[in-house]
Amino acid sequence: MTSSLSAVAYLGAAILFILCLGGLSTQETARRGNLYGMIGMAIAVLATVFGTQVTGAGLPWIIGAMLVGASIGLYAARVVQMTQMPELVALMHSMVGLAAVLVGYANFIDPAVSVGLSPAEKAIHEMEMYVGVLIGAVTFSGSVIAFGKLSGRIGGKPMLLPARHWINLGALLVVIYCGYAFMHVSNAAEAMTPMVVMTVIALLFGIHMVMAIGGADMPVVVSMLNSYSGWAAAATGFMLSNDLLIVTGALVGSSGAILSYIMCTAMNRHFLSVIAGGFGSEGGSPVAAGAVQPAGEVSPIQPAETADLLREAKNVIIVPGYGMAVAQAQHTVHEITQLLREKGVNVRFGIHPVAGRMPGHMNVLLAEAKVPYDIVFEMEELNGDFSATDVAMVIGANDIVNPGAQDDPGSPIAGMPVLEVWKAKTSIVMKRSMASGYAGVDNPLFYKDNNRMLFGDAKKMLDEVLAALKSR
Ligand code: TAP
Repeated sequence: MTSSLSAVAYLGAAILFILCLGGLSTQETARRGNLYGMIGMAIAVLATVFGTQVTGAGLPWIIGAMLVGASIGLYAARVVQMTQMPELVALMHSMVGLAAVLVGYANFIDPAVSVGLSPAEKAIHEMEMYVGVLIGAVTFSGSVIAFGKLSGRIGGKPMLLPARHWINLGALLVVIYCGYAFMHVSNAAEAMTPMVVMTVIALLFGIHMVMAIGGADMPVVVSMLNSYSGWAAAATGFMLSNDLLIVTGALVGSSGAILSYIMCTAMNRHFLSVIAGGFGSEGGSPVAAGAVQPAGEVSPIQPAETADLLREAKNVIIVPGYGMAVAQAQHTVHEITQLLREKGVNVRFGIHPVAGRMPGHMNVLLAEAKVPYDIVFEMEELNGDFSATDVAMVIGANDIVNPGAQDDPGSPIAGMPVLEVWKAKTSIVMKRSMASGYAGVDNPLFYKDNNRMLFGDAKKMLDEVLAALKSR
């Protein structure tokens, strides 16, 4: 492939990636957006593999590596559960970080890379390598720890070292000093020491940063690491002089940063304290989900009575959460919705930005079950409507409907905006037990006078509600 043809292919792929991101911003266009992304990536890979930088001898190795990578990807995509997606995403971010580190070291070790460069170009290239390895190492170790926390292999409790901010500041100063030394030593052998010291510090910083984060704040960290992985890819693009990688990395980096910002707003957190690390660990100490003892009396309800309330209602708002994903109850939810709508009930869905375990988790499940998009609303679009709602049905959600976020300043989730289901005439919470949710805090909603608890697996309970609705 000639260089001009590969430039055109890269431009086409970059445009497709932008269209992909645009498409992913709404549910109606998300499928098309994904398709654009897939076509763009196929073009990018083909244009790179058959481009001018790959010599004939390297081709079989690249094709072999692609086959191995594609097989692992296919296997992972087939076996991974929807509830394990965030861990998989964290693991993938770690790969991007590791790739940036390896490419940085390969560039550094290969003497041919800097042959023919002017002193200014050489300095820029060294800076690219140093920064690329730095971002890559933080992304790699941070993502591995995020994977451990999300999959439950590492506890959700924040690990807070004494004087951790000073430790971070000290590490930053050493990294800057090593950068100076790296750029000013006379030969590659001497430059290796500051490079290795910086890499070790960056790896430790990534671990420290994510270990210090409380369980409830992990979503923001995952999207932040998504952003870091984009910048790591962009840095790799600079090292390899690959324009498409720079553009794609910048797209991922900036969209991840915007997503982190949106999620911070959704959880009432400060973006800057997230970037500084250790975020969310001050105002309380999140405990393992399910560890909090219930405080108060609750009124249970049975599926048949739930069906009666739904049948008699004019306005119903359904609030799905992580438990709906665990129970895979979305298809039954759709059937119930259809049935109620046929009976003239106004059914709408209220989606919290951090419901479930990944951004858009609930939207994906509802779209999979073919729930019409026009009855699915964001939290702020619906929050004012609960007082005019007859039944608010909470399906496997907990933290996102916790009134303590508004009423209890000492709560680990204090200040997080929540869906105000308790303002409905009746709220029904569907879950298996009195266990707490991800943030490990008790939920005062359960004890409110107008709240009823429908205990059991969400799918099983909804099947029974559906049967009761159909029976009359
Ligand atoms: P959670 O607060 O985690 O509550 C989910 C509830 O579902 C649990 O209390 C659980 O209670 C119930 N449940 C589990 N399996 C069930 C089943 N088979 N049938 C019925 N109920 C079941 O979920 P949420 O309200 O969606 O809030 C999300 C939380 O996750 C927030 O704290 C958020 O910060 C965090 N988080 C979000 C993300 C993103 S990006 N969305 C990523 C990581 C973490 P039982 O055990 O009693 O059934």
